[in-house]
Amino acid sequence: MSERIRTTRSDTLLASVGGRGVLCGIYDEDAADTYHDLMRDSDGTSEAQEFATLIRPASGPVLELAAGTGRVTFPLLELGFEVTALELSTAMIATFRELLENATVDVRKRCTVVQGDMTAFALDERFERVVVSSGSINVLDAADRPGLYASVREHLAPGGRFLLGVAVAEAVKPGQGERQQELPGLSGRRYVLHAALLPSEEIHEITIYPAEETADPFVVCTNRIRLLKAEQVVRELEEAGFDMVTRTPFASAGQSSPDVLLLEAKVSGA
Ligand SMILES: C[S@@+](CC[C@H](N)C(=O)[O-])C[C@H]1O[C@@H](n2cnc3c(N)ncnc32)[C@H](O)[C@@H]1O
Repeated sequence: MSERIRTTRSDTLLASVGGRGVLCGIYDEDAADTYHDLMRDSDGTSEAQEFATLIRPASGPVLELAAGTGRVTFPLLELGFEVTALELSTAMIATFRELLENATVDVRKRCTVVQGDMTAFALDERFERVVVSSGSINVLDAADRPGLYASVREHLAPGGRFLLGVAVAEAVKPGQGERQQELPGLSGRRYVLHAALLPSEEIHEITIYPAEETADPFVVCTNRIRLLKAEQVVRELEEAGFDMVTRTPFASAGQSSPDVLLLEAKVSGA
């Protein structure tokens, strides 16, 4: 289970709901129902197609890090690639495996699921492509990102590429410290998403909870999202010994303008 992050909002909510309250990280087992209700329909096909333009067919397995429940992995598999999906959370992996069991034999054969930490992993294989979908690097602190870059370097085959989606961070305006919106779940249940900018202005504290005050259990999910700028990631990659090859902005599902920058990097001199 990941660290249980307490937010100011979660403290207030849990104090008011008493024994009904459950605090969990958004990728934990206790959050699985909420996560699926809000994310089940989230489509990674357009993102997978963007990655696919930079992956040679028959280039061997693609390594996807922080694969979650396979939002981008399954479309990559549908496109015919072989994918090794690495993920840290036991709950996310359990759902991933369930979805995989319902996939075709052909898709199942081309997918390997590995539990591991993207900031420190050691697989007995090198890959032509290592992929991280948009939003996933935002779960890592500055102190952990060098571990990601070093581990990726160790796992790239000669001439291989690191493909990293970086969400284009919205500029934070003064007075935008907190915001709240209601989100509909696929089940019909409604949730409140509360986002508070921490004083460092580089982290959003996220709290998601039922809009229905009498919900039992009253599951309060929390997360921290780093507001990373693409230029910062590029700088860090260069410091970690990568050269940038291409930078491609694209619009993810449901967006009318580009909200993700796809970075393609290679090991310097390789
Ligand atoms: C924003 S979600 C993205 C999931 C998936 N890639 C997608 O696009 O839907 C981030 C994922 O990173 C996983 N994660 C967090 N820290 C990790 C780590 N150190 N190593 C591997 N996965 C991690 C979380 O469990 C979660 O599944």
